Amino acid sequence: MDYSLFCESLQALLADTPYPLAVLSNAAAFLYQELPDLNWAGFYQADTDPAGGKILSLGPFQGKPACIEIPWGRGVCGTAAARNQTQLVPDVHAFPGHIACDAASASEIVIPLHKQDGSFWGVLDIDSPVTDRFTEEDREGLEAAAKLIAQALQTARER
Ligand code: SME
Repeated sequence: MDYSLFCESLQALLADTPYPLAVLSNAAAFLYQELPDLNWAGFYQADTDPAGGKILSLGPFQGKPACIEIPWGRGVCGTAAARNQTQLVPDVHAFPGHIACDAASASEIVIPLHKQDGSFWGVLDIDSPVTDRFTEEDREGLEAAAKLIAQALQTARER
C-alpha cells in the first residue's frame, strides 16, 4: 500500500471543502473505496448524551448502520478516546469490551483526531472482516491520513 500517494489523493479530495460534514463524508468514502478488505470506515465525535454523560456519537461513515453512541472508555473507540491513543486491534474478539456493531468485524484500528489547539475531536474507526488486517505500516499511513482529515476539518470550520 503506497500511503504517500494515498495521502496525496486524500489531501487533494478534501482541499477547499468549506463544510465539515462534507469533509468527513468524502473522507469516509475515500477510505472505504481505497483500502482493501474493509467492512466499515467512519467517524465518532466527542459528545454528551442527553443526560450529560461523556460519549462518542456516530458521524459520517461507510458500511452497515452502526451504534449511535459509545460510552467513554468502552470498546475500541471509547478506549482510543479515553487514552487519546491509537488502538490497533488484530483480533476484536480478544479485546475486552469490544462493541460489535457489525458481526463481520474481525480486526480494527481506531485513531484519535485532534483540533488545531491539540484538544481531542473524536476518532477515525476502520474495521475489517479479516483478522490481523492492519500492520504498523497501516498505522503510520492512517495516522498521517487522520492528521490530513483533522486539518481539513479545521479549515472547513474556519471559513
Ligand atoms: N467496534 C467498535 C464500535 C464501533 S463499530 O465497529 C462501527 C468499538 O468497539 O469501539
